[in-house]
Amino acid sequence: MSPTPKSGRFITLEGGEGVGKSTLARGLADALSGDGCDVVVTREPGGAPGAVAIRALLVQGDAGRWDAMEEALLFAAARRNHLTHTIRPALARGAWVICDRYYDSTRAYQVAAGGLDPVALDALNALIEAPRPDLTFVLDFAPEAGLERSQGRNLGEDRFERKAADFHARVRAEFLAIAAREPQRCVVLDAGQSAADVLKQARTELEARS
Ligand SMILES: Nc1ncnc2c1ncn2[C@@H]1O[C@H](COP(=O)(O)OP(=O)(O)OP(=O)(O)O)[C@@H](O)[C@H]1O
Ligand SMILES: [Mg+2]
Repeated sequence: MSPTPKSGRFITLEGGEGVGKSTLARGLADALSGDGCDVVVTREPGGAPGAVAIRALLVQGDAGRWDAMEEALLFAAARRNHLTHTIRPALARGAWVICDRYYDSTRAYQVAAGGLDPVALDALNALIEAPRPDLTFVLDFAPEAGLERSQGRNLGEDRFERKAADFHARVRAEFLAIAAREPQRCVVLDAGQSAADVLKQARTELEARS
C-alpha cells in the first residue's frame, strides 16, 4: 500500500498580549477538524513536558529576572523540546499544527524590544533547526487595548505583560516589520474586528493558499 499522503501544514499565530491568538487557535482548530483534518493546537513556550517546565521560568517572577539573551536561550531550549516531541511528529504524520507564538515572538520581544543581537537569534534557530512556518497570522492591535483584554486572565503568568508601554509598542512594530519583510509567509489580521470576523478572514487566507 502506498503511504498516506502528507498534507499537514505548520501555522503560527503571532502578536502582542491579548490580541486573540488563543481564540483564533481554537477557532481554526474547530474549523479544520470539522473539515476532517488531524489538528494539533499547541503553544510556545510549552507544548511538551520539558518546555512546559521552562515556560514557568519565563512567564513567572520578576520582570528583571532574565535578560534578553537568557530569555532567548531558555526559549531555544523550550523550542527544541517542543519541536522534537510535538511539532515534528505531528507534521510527519500529516497533521496540521497550529502554534500559538513561535520564533517571530522571540524576534519581537527579545530582539526588537529587548535589545538582543538579531544574529544571536538567527544562530539559535539554526542550531535547533527550527522549521519555517508555512503560514503565519500576525494579529495586530493597540498594545493598551490588548493588555486590557488580557487583564487579570494570566495571573501568575504576567511577567511580559508587566513590561513598560514602550516595550509593547516595539513588539507591535516588529511584528508588522516581520510581516512586511516576509509577505509570502505572513498575513496581518486586524485584531480590532470581532473574533468571528478575524476567524473568517483567516479561513479565507488559508483557503486561498491551499
Ligand atoms: N476579536 C476579538 N474581539 C473582542 N474580544 C476578543 C477578540 N479576540 C479575543 N477576545 C477576547 O480577548 C481576551 C484575550 O483573547 P486571547 O486569550 O485569545 O488572546 P491572546 O492573544 O491569546 O492573549 P495572551 O497574550 O494573554 O495569551 C479573551 O477574553 C477573548 O475572549
Ligand atoms: Mg493566549
